Amino acid sequence: MGSLWSILQILGFAAVFTFATAGPIEGRVKRKSFLKQVDNSTWVIGNGIWNVTQGRQYATKLWYKNKDLVDEAVGHYVSYNGAASDLNWTSAAIVDEGSDYINVRFTAREGDFHWVIYDDLAGAYQYFVNHALPVLGEFRTLWRLDNETFPNGRTNERDGPLPPLSEYRAATNVQDETWQKADGTFLTKYDWSAFLREVDFYGVYGNEVGSWYFNPGKDYYNGNHLKQELMIHRESRTGDAVQLNMIHGTHFQALSQDAFADGKTWGPWLWYLNDGSKEDAARRAKEEERAWPYKWFNNVAYQSRGSIWGKLVLSDGRPAAGAAVFLGDNNSDKTTLDQGKDYYYTTYADEDGTFNIGNVRSGTYGLYAWSNGGKLADVATSVIQNDVTISKGKYTDLKTITWKVTDRKSRIFQLGDFDRQTTGFRGSTPPYGHGRIATCPSNLTYTIGISKPSDWCFGQSSLGTNSIVFPVSSIPESAASAKLIVSLAGFSSGSSADILLNGQKLGNITTGSLSTSQDTYRGATRAGEWYLLEFLVKKEVLKTGENRVEFTVTRSTQWRGWLWDSILLEWV
Ligand SMILES: *[C@@H]1O[C@H](CO)[C@@H](O)[C@H](O)[C@H]1NC(C)=O
Ligand SMILES: *[C@@H]1O[C@H](CO)[C@@H](O)[C@H](O)[C@H]1NC(C)=O
Ligand SMILES: *[C@@H]1O[C@H](CO)[C@@H](O)[C@H](O)[C@H]1NC(C)=O
Ligand SMILES: *[C@@H]1O[C@H](CO)[C@@H](O)[C@H](O)[C@H]1NC(C)=O
Ligand SMILES: *[C@@H]1O[C@H](CO)[C@@H](O)[C@H](O)[C@H]1NC(C)=O
Ligand SMILES: *[C@@H]1O[C@H](CO)[C@@H](O)[C@H](O)[C@H]1NC(C)=O
Ligand SMILES: *[C@@H]1O[C@H](CO)[C@@H](O)[C@H](O)[C@H]1NC(C)=O
Repeated sequence: MGSLWSILQILGFAAVFTFATAGPIEGRVKRKSFLKQVDNSTWVIGNGIWNVTQGRQYATKLWYKNKDLVDEAVGHYVSYNGAASDLNWTSAAIVDEGSDYINVRFTAREGDFHWVIYDDLAGAYQYFVNHALPVLGEFRTLWRLDNETFPNGRTNERDGPLPPLSEYRAATNVQDETWQKADGTFLTKYDWSAFLREVDFYGVYGNEVGSWYFNPGKDYYNGNHLKQELMIHRESRTGDAVQLNMIHGTHFQALSQDAFADGKTWGPWLWYLNDGSKEDAARRAKEEERAWPYKWFNNVAYQSRGSIWGKLVLSDGRPAAGAAVFLGDNNSDKTTLDQGKDYYYTTYADEDGTFNIGNVRSGTYGLYAWSNGGKLADVATSVIQNDVTISKGKYTDLKTITWKVTDRKSRIFQLGDFDRQTTGFRGSTPPYGHGRIATCPSNLTYTIGISKPSDWCFGQSSLGTNSIVFPVSSIPESAASAKLIVSLAGFSSGSSADILLNGQKLGNITTGSLSTSQDTYRGATRAGEWYLLEFLVKKEVLKTGENRVEFTVTRSTQWRGWLWDSILLEWV
C-alpha cells in the first residue's frame, strides 16, 4: 500500500493526520476512538482510555492509566510457525464505523488484522481474515507485556505468579523451554497450558492492571474437546509476561498442518484491560459468552448460522450418555483433534444421548461421537456421519443415530475407561507435570479382579514391563479369535515397547508405526494425541486359567513414551 501513501504525499497530506471524525449524524459528541497515521509504517490507535503505537511488525507502547504497559517488552504481534514469520503491516484504514466505534484494518500480505475499538471500552475486539496464509500448524496473536506490571497469570487450570526470570537464569535448560532447578524440580512454560475449549478467560495481571482474553464461541480454533494449548508464560530470554492467543496450534499434538480458504476468519475475541480484578474479568467473560455470536460483526458468513439436534443410541439399546459430540470436517482423513481448516463445535450428549448445538456456521460437516467415559466407559467404537448440512436459521434434525458397539458379554478384561484420557490412573492429575512420567514404575503388574485402576500408572516410558494378569474361565466354542485393543491417550516418540500375550509377540508401540506427538515430553499427563491400536490374537494363544499381557519397553528416551487410555481384550 506504499502507493496510497505516495499518492497522499503527492496530494500534500501532512505527515500526521487523523482518520477519526465525528459520526455522520448531526450533533453527535465527537467520537473518542481513533486511528492516527504517523508515517508509512507507524500508526496510533485507541480511544480516550488506552492507545497503542503500531509499527510494521510490533505494536509497542500500550498506554493505559498513564503507564506504558509494554515498556521494554516486545508488545503486540501476529505470527505463524515461529518468530521468523511475524506479519508485516503495510497499511491501515478505518473500514467500518458507527457512532461509538471504529473498525481499523491492518493489512499484511497474508491477511487482515482488525481492531474494533469502542469509545468507552478498555480493550478492543480483534479478528483476523485470511487471504494468503501458507499451510501452517501454529498461528497466534499475542501480547508481550512489561514483566513487572504483570507478575501473575491466570487460566482456568492455574492462577499465580509467573516464575521470575531470575529462576530461569539460575536453572539448567534440559529441553525445549524446560529447566531443572537446583532442588531437582522443573520450570517449564507448558505448566501454563489448558484445555482450550474449557477456558472461561485467561490473562496476566498485577495489583494495578490486568490484560485478558475472552474467546467466546471458540469455533475458529482447531481440534476437539481435548485440544490443549499454551496460554500464558514468562518469556525465558527477556522476562516478558506473555499472553498468547493460539488461534491455531499444535503444542500437544502431532504436527497438524492446515491450508485455509481465503476468508477464513478467526474471532472476534475480546482483549480487555482492567485494574487486575479477576472478578471483573470473570463477569466480563460471562457477558461476552452471552453476547456471542456478536450481532455487531458485519460479516455475512459469520452471521449465517443454524442449529443441530440428534440422539445417539448404542446398538445394544443403551442411550449414549455423556458422549463427546464433535461437528467437524466432512469426510476427513484426519482425527478430530487434528482437524483445523474450518470451524468446529463440541458438546456432550445428555444422559439420554441427545445433543444440541446452536449457532453453527452454515456449511457441510462431519458429525463424530465417542465415549467420554462414565456410562460409556466400555465403548471402544465411535460414530462418524458425513454430509451433515447446516443452513442459516434452520434446525437440522439428525433424529436417532445408531452407534454400533460390540457385545459386552464377549469381553475378557478391560483396564481403564475409554475416554481418550488417562482418567483414573495414578499420576493422571493435575493435567501437567514435567517429568512425572519418569515416576511411573518400570515394572508393574496389574491383576484383573484384584487391582484398582489407580494401581496402574498413567504412562509408560522406562525400560521394564507393565503386565496385566487376567483369568480366562473357559474358551468359547463360538469365538474365532480374540482382539486386543490398546487405546493410547498420547505418544511422544523415542520409547518403544513390544506387546506380548502369554509370551507371544502381538505387535508394538513404536515410532515407526505412530506419528510422534508433542505431549508426554511436554508434561501432558491427561491427554495428547489419541491412537487406537488393534491386534488380532489367535484363539490358541489364550488358555483357561491365568493369562498375561505384557508391554515390554525395548527402548526408552527420558520423558518420552505413551499415555494410557484403556486396554481391552475381547472374543471376536
Ligand atoms: C516509507 O518511508 C521511508 C522513509 O520515509 C521510505 O524510505 C520508504 O520507501 C517508504 N516505504 C513505502 C512502502 O512507501
Ligand atoms: C496515548 O496516551 C498517552 C497517555 O495517556 C497520551 O499522552 C498520548 O497523547 C496518547 N496518544 C494519542 C495519539 O492520543
Ligand atoms: C516481516 O519482515 C521481516 C523483516 O523484513 C522479515 O524477516 C519477516 O520474514 C517478514 N515476515 C513475513 C511473514 O514475511
Ligand atoms: C523483568 O525483565 C528484566 C529485564 O529482562 C529482568 O531484569 C527482571 O528480572 C525481570 N523481572 C521478572 C520478575 O522476571
Ligand atoms: C461430504 O462427504 C461425503 C463422503 O462421505 C461426500 O460424498 C460428499 O460429497 C461431501 N459433501 C460435501 C458438501 O463436500
Ligand atoms: C524390571 O524387571 C526386569 C526383569 O525382571 C529387571 O531386570 C529390572 O531390573 C527391573 N527394573 C527395575 C527398575 O526394578
Ligand atoms: C511394529 O508394528 C508394525 C505394525 O503394527 C510393523 O509394521 C513394524 O514393523 C513393527 N516394528 C517393529 C520395530 O517391530
